Amino acid sequence: MNYLEEEEYQDSKFDIKVWYKIFSYMKPFKKNVILGILAAIVLAAIDTIYPLINKYAIDEIIETRSLEKLPYFIAFYILVMSLIGFMVYGFIINAGQVQQKLSFALRKDAFKRLHELPFSYYDKTPVGWIMARMTSDSRNLSDILSWGLIDLSWGLLMMTGITIVMFIINVKLALITLSVLPLLIGLSIYFKKKILKAYRKIRKENSKITGSFNEGITGAKTTKTLVLEDDNFNDFDGLTSNMRRHSIKAAMFAGLYFPSILFIATFATGLIIYYGGMDVSADIISIGVLYLFIAYIGSFFEPVMQLANILARFQQAQASAERLIDLIDMEPEIFDTKEVIEIYGDAINFKKENWEELVGEVEFRNVTFKYSKGETVLSYFNLKVKAGENIALVGHTGAGKSTIVNLICRFYEPTEGKILIDGKDYKDRSIGWLHDNLGYVLQSPHLFSGTILENIRYGRPEATFEEVEHAAKLVEADNFIIEFKDGYNTEVGEGGTRLSVGQKQLISFARALIADPKILILDEATSSVDTKTEKSIQRAIKIVLKGRTSFVIAHRLSTIISSDRILVLEDGKIKEEGTHNELIKLEKHYYKLYTNQFKSKVIEESKNE
Ligand SMILES: Nc1ncnc2c1ncn2[C@@H]1O[C@H](COP(=O)(O)OP(=O)(O)OP(=O)(O)O)[C@@H](O)[C@H]1O
Ligand SMILES: [Mg+2]
Repeated sequence: MNYLEEEEYQDSKFDIKVWYKIFSYMKPFKKNVILGILAAIVLAAIDTIYPLINKYAIDEIIETRSLEKLPYFIAFYILVMSLIGFMVYGFIINAGQVQQKLSFALRKDAFKRLHELPFSYYDKTPVGWIMARMTSDSRNLSDILSWGLIDLSWGLLMMTGITIVMFIINVKLALITLSVLPLLIGLSIYFKKKILKAYRKIRKENSKITGSFNEGITGAKTTKTLVLEDDNFNDFDGLTSNMRRHSIKAAMFAGLYFPSILFIATFATGLIIYYGGMDVSADIISIGVLYLFIAYIGSFFEPVMQLANILARFQQAQASAERLIDLIDMEPEIFDTKEVIEIYGDAINFKKENWEELVGEVEFRNVTFKYSKGETVLSYFNLKVKAGENIALVGHTGAGKSTIVNLICRFYEPTEGKILIDGKDYKDRSIGWLHDNLGYVLQSPHLFSGTILENIRYGRPEATFEEVEHAAKLVEADNFIIEFKDGYNTEVGEGGTRLSVGQKQLISFARALIADPKILILDEATSSVDTKTEKSIQRAIKIVLKGRTSFVIAHRLSTIISSDRILVLEDGKIKEEGTHNELIKLEKHYYKLYTNQFKSKVIEESKNE
């Protein structure tokens, strides 16, 4: 929540660099921008000229009572109307294009950057914050830079045009009209500030309420079991009544603003009618001129109101721009060098034709590693793993198991030393190449909402149904899948909530099998499942690990025993390594660990045989 409060709601000083960056995004479609602004210029000119033509019509037709020139005026009006139609069309089409293209370009870059940012970024950044950047910020910006920008050009030009024409026609009346301008501008700024401030408070309350909704919904079970409904409701009540107060305030200011402007406009019209009327009766000016000024007052006030609005929105949009640019410009801590990208492609555009086949040999060579905040976890760590070897990582909490695995995945990189894959530093090839050949089955596997079929297919999108079914059968997921009414087309629900933990694991194994990675990382789940599923999982793991290099953070004795090599880790060092039988014979660390942690499980697992 603090994250939101600090960042979201501050006014910022005009920052040319941010706008330069955003405007450079508009270069590819500057044609649309220019055409839109051109349409706005023509419309502004028409808005200026149109009352002027009416004035001549009044003077030439009504005053002289002759219809001689009427056909010309009719022809002219038809022309003007078609021109207006055409220009409005051009205005809407081009503004719409600018808006769509800009928001697409911004979102594309932000999305690409999100793929390049390391895991650690997601540890620090709330998902809601990222979502807001991708949705409301990019929408704000593209709105203001399309409709806003074109409206701004229209308003400014029309006001300039009208002012010039007024002074040419009649200086006195022009001065009278403009005399209310300072009042108008002052009032507009005052109200806009008040309204924006209230809105900002509303949004702040709103994000608190959304957060509270979120907690209320996701924590509903806990709330109920702890009988916290009352407290929750009171908190929520407090939040919403704040929101109501600010909303009423905003509505009040918005409600007062328009009538005040209208009042000034009417007052100005009164002045013009008074002074202009006297001039008309003294025959100093024509009725047409009087009409012209009355008409101009009307068309003068609209852009002033719009401008106040647009300028206020520009200020907000700058905050959006800053946050988006911050995200887009964020340097990922782990990235491919230019040379590597040249050959292997970037995070989105792979150049698979240049990718070498990955065999699966992994080597840590004098790897020292520490997290950006923290102490050294590994120092001069060495490990050589043959292609196809199954490694089990065991050790107490904090021993460095996850760290080793994270390094292999290149979620982090060695602070010193190298990690070699097939004998070559993995930094010399792209992250995309590595990740395409690497599978990671997490402790709590994530399923995407969609069907079981789709979820297994994520492993390899082009897999046929038969291949999916085959994989599911191998890991024994098929048994429970076909029991569902919809079989493979069963919807798993958001995050797979409609499936049990064991079922999710089996599906994630099928997914890994279909992807057929050369290196597989498995963070074994500790959660207990029923005996039958447990047996299935044990067999599934054996099948999934077969024939590939694997690193398993192991909790199951069955996995550990059948691995080719067990690494016993302590404080980032390998204390012992070997097969289960070798290590048991040593009667040292592994033996102790085994007797403490696993013995009970052995009895349990053997009971299940
Ligand atoms: N993101 C991080 N930032 C800073 N320090 C970290 C981070 N992750 C882990 N560490 C530290 O690195 C050390 C090794 O942690 P690691 O997560 O590799 O242990 P582990 O063997 O996987 O433990 P567990 O069995 O609890 O998962 C610990 O001292 C831990 O505090
Ligand atoms: Mg861990």
